[in-house]
Amino acid sequence: MNKYLVIGNPIDHSLSPALHNHWLKENNINATYDKIKLEDHEIKNFIQNIKEQKVAGCNVTVPFKKTVIPFLDKLSPEADQTQSVNTITFDNGVLVGHNTDIAGFDAAIKKLNFSLKRKRVLILGAGGVVSSIILALKNMQVQEITISNRTREKAESLRVLFNNLKVLEWGKLIDFDMVINATSLGLNNEKINLDFTSLGKNKLFYDVIYNPHETHFLKLGKQSGNMTENGKTMFVYQALEAFKLWHKIEPKINQETLKILDND
Ligand code: ATR
Repeated sequence: MNKYLVIGNPIDHSLSPALHNHWLKENNINATYDKIKLEDHEIKNFIQNIKEQKVAGCNVTVPFKKTVIPFLDKLSPEADQTQSVNTITFDNGVLVGHNTDIAGFDAAIKKLNFSLKRKRVLILGAGGVVSSIILALKNMQVQEITISNRTREKAESLRVLFNNLKVLEWGKLIDFDMVINATSLGLNNEKINLDFTSLGKNKLFYDVIYNPHETHFLKLGKQSGNMTENGKTMFVYQALEAFKLWHKIEPKINQETLKILDND
């Protein structure tokens, strides 16, 4: 039986197994999907297991999206551009790193009917998923992307991958059309210490976090009369794209699928 895994650290919170196992069953595919917590030094051996076909494929989450790259044979153009891999396939003897976070974010925004063309976007955070969000935003032809991160060097280092990125000191605010929380603040009900109230309405507040479904950041956005969206749709669509890569089948997304992810 084919075995799929998601690797990360921490990994307990991951809802990928519930979602993939649901789709595997629904499509009568004889395979399993599990999660495994790894340490840095275990990554090389783990990937060797895919080459030896002990593992059929895997998803990669924080903090290993970049760590896996040296051990792969090839990267998809998107994974290469973002230097971020969240899905690994083994096809015809070749280990390929893909990035389906970009398509996930793109699908989530398209569903909102909020055009980002020539708009200004502020991203809070510079962790694992941010390069994918930047590439998706660039493909949507946004006008300006500004990154603000507690550790400024991490925001600066994204400039190596993308030109025209602006960097803003953590704790400062500029006007924007869309603001994205890509920090981990909110996972445990933490507040983000920024005063959005003076910026007006008709903006989009987007949180990559989907559990809890409404972070303090999204509550603030809503209270000040703005549109809000959490990271659930992005999560589901990145999983859908990974499923398609492995099984060549497009799984269904319906109320039942979305319910699997409602655990708060
Ligand atoms: P990684 O950085 O390993 O990829 P992540 O969960 O994707 O992990 O990213 C965590 C993000 O939340 C980072 O941008 C982090 O900022 P630093 O780069 O300064 O660590 C941000 N973050 C976490 N805790 C924070 C806090 N208390 N205040 C501000 N930003 C925080």
